Amino acid sequence: MINLGEKVIYQIYPKSFYDSDGDGLGDLQGIIAKIPYIAKLNVDMIWFNPFFVSPQNDNGYDIADYYQIDERFGTTADFEQLVAELKKINVGVMLDMVFNHCSTQHEWFQKALAGNKKYQHYFYLRPAKVAGSLPNNWQSKFGGPAWSRFGQSELYYLHLYDPTQADLDWHNPDVRAEASKIVNFWRKKGVQGFRFDVINVIGKDHELVDSLNPIQEKTLYTDTPVVHQYLKELNQNSFGQDKEIITVGEMSSTSIANSIEYTRPQEHELSMVFTFHHLKVDYKNGQKWSNMPFDFMKLKSLLTSWQLNMDRGNGWNALFWNNHDQPWALSRFGDTGKYRIKSAQMLATALHCLRGTPFIYQGEELGMINPDYKSISDYVDVESLNAYKELLRQGKTPQAAFNLIKGKSRDNSRVPMHWDASATAGFTNGTPWLQPTNQAEINVNAELDHGEIFNYYQKLIALRKNYRLISQGHFIPLLEDNHAVFAYARCLADSSEKVFVFNNFYGTDTIVKLPTMCTKQKGKILLSNYPNNLDKLPQELHLRPYESLVWCTL
Ligand code: NOJ
Repeated sequence: MINLGEKVIYQIYPKSFYDSDGDGLGDLQGIIAKIPYIAKLNVDMIWFNPFFVSPQNDNGYDIADYYQIDERFGTTADFEQLVAELKKINVGVMLDMVFNHCSTQHEWFQKALAGNKKYQHYFYLRPAKVAGSLPNNWQSKFGGPAWSRFGQSELYYLHLYDPTQADLDWHNPDVRAEASKIVNFWRKKGVQGFRFDVINVIGKDHELVDSLNPIQEKTLYTDTPVVHQYLKELNQNSFGQDKEIITVGEMSSTSIANSIEYTRPQEHELSMVFTFHHLKVDYKNGQKWSNMPFDFMKLKSLLTSWQLNMDRGNGWNALFWNNHDQPWALSRFGDTGKYRIKSAQMLATALHCLRGTPFIYQGEELGMINPDYKSISDYVDVESLNAYKELLRQGKTPQAAFNLIKGKSRDNSRVPMHWDASATAGFTNGTPWLQPTNQAEINVNAELDHGEIFNYYQKLIALRKNYRLISQGHFIPLLEDNHAVFAYARCLADSSEKVFVFNNFYGTDTIVKLPTMCTKQKGKILLSNYPNNLDKLPQELHLRPYESLVWCTL
């Protein structure tokens, strides 16, 4: 049985990692060229965002052929080489399976449009409710109605995302068989991990009724009981046949109870889930397009309740601050100025010592921060551009709308990896598809030469591999009422040893009173981002700006 707690996964956004042929877009040969860099981190697996054939309306999440590599990224031979080269450094490959929807360019959709009944049943095609209306009032997550006209017919097709991403009808056993077939195809090519995109929205109610409001609307298609049934089936027919495979489901607006069911080993669904509640603590009234300082107490209580309850239920969480859909965590929860390094180390510590499997998004190990774009024309993401138009429509001034996009756009983290301080950040010899802006200070060359973040990540990864307390321990919250410090202990049922983790989330000194549980035993520091030397924890612990301390009893 695989020990998920010992694994660390790195995420590569292929379009932005490294461009080997000067077209301004990252590619598979670019990734191969950078394997020596990846090897230094000692991660176990890499999750690659989709590089399959796609018109790229949603950067590859609109797949037109699940079996072929898009020529912009390379060829099947490049992919096979990538798998083989990564295998040499013991790094597995995790592919992104986008099964809730496919591109309207996919032959399934094209055949459906041409009148083929079999393929029409792959999609949600519905007539207007009454003449001139849509089948129901659902909204696309990228803005606008979730329905578009199906060719010249009287029907409409459902798309929870962009109109070029048509939702697949998972109630149709043929669709489910296609999904298993695709997973098995890539398994045969040596793929050992699968990430399933928005997989908890595949079980729409059979009858697609109007929603009462946007919150209730999600319940009509999110976490429905049939999702568990379909995941069990997919598991049985594909990845579940190999006990070494790691899977992660991206769960939109899920619950702890469902996440336990998705991941409890005895359910035979998935290894772990991505959940997002902790990344909405800077959403004013739940609205993404808002700017407000993050709510620290909310962040703490969310992390705590997920840690405790997933453990109680024997579920398993993926741990992450960043991905290709999020602005950089350092720009949201840390300090991008004076304490950039300290706060990057602190955020990493707070996350990497939790119970779960940590994911590191490319560039996080350099302490990357949001680019400083000056104009809406610097952005390309479909969600951001739609939101900008919508914000203007709601009456925001262009400057106010721009500021909101700047704070939350997905392009923030999609900016090319900074390899060096040059104008293109060493990412390409051509024109980068998104412009880097702060590479002068933050880049791989500088980081490997004299930086303090990359090597700190190396230490955190090593701790997870060397300490059972960190890879498998239970979570005990500490200092729950403290308004600056996120602290916790990790413990095992079969030993009195503990690890204590303290993280000061702010740029000011603070003193915390420790419970006797922390002060009674001798121990040693496992890691800290400040010089520290404590063989016993004091009753009053002084933490400096963004200080983290990982301490273990002897
Ligand atoms: C989640 C992906 O991470 C995101 O990038 C994408 O736009 C949506 N799913 C739709 O596939």
